[in-house]
Amino acid sequence: MGKTYRDIFNQRGNLYNQAMAQYPGARDEEFTPLLKLLQIQASDVVADIPSGGCYLKPYLPTGTLIYSVDPSEGFLADGVSNEHVINAEIDQIPLTDGSVDKVYSLSGIHHLVDKKPFFREMYRLLKPGGLFGLSDVAKDSIVDPFLNRFVDEHNTQGHVGIFLDASTLTDLEACGFEIISSELVPYTWNFDDRKGMVHFCRLLFGLNIGSDEEIERGIEHYLGSESKNGKIAMHWELLCILAKKPETKPL
Ligand SMILES: C[S@@+](CC[C@H](N)C(=O)[O-])C[C@H]1O[C@@H](n2cnc3c(N)ncnc32)[C@H](O)[C@@H]1O
Repeated sequence: MGKTYRDIFNQRGNLYNQAMAQYPGARDEEFTPLLKLLQIQASDVVADIPSGGCYLKPYLPTGTLIYSVDPSEGFLADGVSNEHVINAEIDQIPLTDGSVDKVYSLSGIHHLVDKKPFFREMYRLLKPGGLFGLSDVAKDSIVDPFLNRFVDEHNTQGHVGIFLDASTLTDLEACGFEIISSELVPYTWNFDDRKGMVHFCRLLFGLNIGSDEEIERGIEHYLGSESKNGKIAMHWELLCILAKKPETKPL
C-alpha cells in the first residue's frame, strides 16, 4: 500500500521543523494575511489545524489559548513543548462542540482529497459566529507546478497536492459556512542569501534529489525571486479564505 501523507510527514516532520527553527523569519509574511483576517485577541480560544510543529504561537497576543492539532507525531515529537498540543486526525478532534472562537489553518489541507469532513469538523468546533481562516495553495497559481512538478521530481516521496479552487468555496458553504472573503495573496519568503533560500527549501520540502544549483534553477523557473531590503525574497502566493459559522442555524 502507498504511503499516506501522515506517514510521509512522520518521516520528514523533523526536517520541516529544522527549516522553521533555522530560518525563523523566512515565512513571516505568510503568517500575516490570516492574522489580519482573524483579528485574534488574547481572550480568544484559537485552534491551529494542522499546526505542524506549532509555529503560530509567536504571532499571537501573549496569553492566547492555542490548541495545536496535527496528525503526525513526527512534527509534534520534535521538542515542541506546548500543553495544548493534540495529536489527532484533523476531522476527529477531541474537543467539545463550540469550544473554539477562531480556527487558523495554513498550508495543510492540500493533501486532503475530500476536504468536507475537515470543514464539517471545523464547523462543529467553532462557536456560533466563530471564524475559520484558511490559507493554502490555489490551483493554477505559481506554487501549483512548483509543488506538483518540481518538488514531486526532487523528493523521493513525491508530491501530489489537491489544491484549492472554486469548489472549495462551494464545499465550505455546503458545510454551513458563510464566505466573507477569498483572495489570492502574493508575498515573499525572505532569506539573508541565496544559499539560505536553497537550504530552507531543501529542508521544508524534503528535496533530496538534485544539486543546489538545480534546486536554485527550479525556484527561479517556477517562482522567481528578487532583492528586497538587502534580503533575497522568493515569490510565493496562497489563497486566503475567511469563512464564518453563522450566529444562528439557517431555517
Ligand atoms: C506543509 S505542513 C503545514 C504545517 C503548518 N501549518 C505550516 O504552515 O507550516 C502540512 C501539515 O499537514 C499535515 N498533514 C499531512 N497530511 C495530512 C492529512 N492527510 N490530513 C491532515 N493533515 C495532514 C502534516 O502533518 C503537516 O503538519
